[in-house]
Amino acid sequence: MFYITTPIYYVNARPHLGTTYTTVIADVMARYYRLMGEDTFFLTGTDEHGINIQRIAESKQITPQQYCDEFASVFQETWKKLGIQYDDFIRTSEDRHIKIVQKVFESLLNKGVLYKGLYKGWYCPRCESYYNFEDLEETDCPVHKSKVDYLEEETYFFSWSKYQEKLLEYYANHPDFVVPENRYREIISFVERGLKDISVSRTSVSWGIPVVSSPEHTVYVWLDALLNYLSAVGFDSDGALFSSWWPPRVQVIGKDILRQHAAFWPAVLMAIDLPLPGHIMVHEFFLVTGSKMSKSGGNVFDPLFLIDELSKLTGIDPQISADALRYFLIKDGPEKNDSDFSFESFINRFKVDLANDWGNLVNRTFGLMLRVGLNKVPDPDELYDNEFKTEVQKYIELYHQCFSQLSPKEALNQICAILRFLNTYIDTHRPWSAEEKERDRCLYHILEGIRIVSILMLPFMPFSSEIILRSLNYCTDKIDLKTETSLFKIIPDTPIFLNLPPLFPRPK
Ligand code: MSP
Repeated sequence: MFYITTPIYYVNARPHLGTTYTTVIADVMARYYRLMGEDTFFLTGTDEHGINIQRIAESKQITPQQYCDEFASVFQETWKKLGIQYDDFIRTSEDRHIKIVQKVFESLLNKGVLYKGLYKGWYCPRCESYYNFEDLEETDCPVHKSKVDYLEEETYFFSWSKYQEKLLEYYANHPDFVVPENRYREIISFVERGLKDISVSRTSVSWGIPVVSSPEHTVYVWLDALLNYLSAVGFDSDGALFSSWWPPRVQVIGKDILRQHAAFWPAVLMAIDLPLPGHIMVHEFFLVTGSKMSKSGGNVFDPLFLIDELSKLTGIDPQISADALRYFLIKDGPEKNDSDFSFESFINRFKVDLANDWGNLVNRTFGLMLRVGLNKVPDPDELYDNEFKTEVQKYIELYHQCFSQLSPKEALNQICAILRFLNTYIDTHRPWSAEEKERDRCLYHILEGIRIVSILMLPFMPFSSEIILRSLNYCTDKIDLKTETSLFKIIPDTPIFLNLPPLFPRPK
């Protein structure tokens, strides 16, 4: 059972390359585990409550619900165009979610981990987070550089401090709970510095979920949002569904929301006696000339714009452009270090890796076969190349290892290594000038390499990989990554569709 989540996205902006990055990582992981034959559940959605959305809707003179409806569909449409294959899309304004948040709040009250008090302090509506005075920059939010609100209101506090020791013990016993390690060290030292109880309800925010026993309070948007991971899989409503999926194996997040996911969320789960997620997988940021890409920074890139531009420059189908963007995100995205984005770097990656390395390998192999009149997989005459086998198998094993170590970027690098090996193989064996037997033997191995690469590439570039596999006459309906990547499975004499137009033509 593989349950994976993305954060649910604020509906204050269209998806941009940063939010797209988180989603593509989760999709690649989900596709990989599905292809490995695991039952997989991939959850994403939108985070719709809170003072920020309430104010935006007021300024537009529409209801918050109308505003959220519009944006939730923008997210859904964008993910569809990017080939994101989620199993459920949860919205925090849905009834199924509201009911669960209300129940969990009451159960936290009954367990005595919430108490009423007065919150006095600062709050940034953009990050929906509380700040101490010493954390502010002058009087502004340190993240958004914009005005914070001063609050003085009755609230329910969650006894976060009670969980400090339990959390530290949990971290010590689960050394890969947060990946990568530097982010794990960060959260451990945050908790070691001491947890202060946190306000989990607001009386001045109407666009939120009312607390059943005190309806003048609405639930703090972060508590509300985190509970989506429970409400989507039937917590307290569908026992069978819930027990089949809970807990998530992987929760993908960016580094800005580490504390909420690795210290607050586990404490809430401990309070309601539920097992914790397997791994919190943390990535870094996309930057633009050194600053975080964000709506408030005014430097965002829209993934759909990038797809359109690439299609305009190359004439390729938008689905192939979407694949190219997915490839770029994983290859050059901020997996362990921040990464500066530019349009040129995206186009350049397309030219070097996709047009030159992968596209060209397919084109020249198919081109040569057409020229010499071969339209079937040639027969290697039992002369399998063992060095070829050892080399390719080595990368396949590493590819699986990288996935289990939660590094899709490194897994992709293993495919790139196979592509480099195949290009060198064809250059050294020179099938265009070899005698027929040698030529056929070389082409057999190259076609087998193309088949393996296309299968391994399915989680990253599903659309393009399927086109290549279909041209090899390979049934893509039910591919099992484990068995289909054993070597020399391509069958001699299988007809091949060689008239494949160049998949990744060089941009004009
Ligand atoms: N709504 C909260 C999450 C609640 S989950 C219970 C939220 N939403 S968000 O829309 O602001 O951001 C969601 C994700 O996008 C985060 O993982 C965040 O790190 C990621 N990114 C936003 N900007 C980013 C970059 N510039 N670069 C990479 N990812 C970044 O937080």
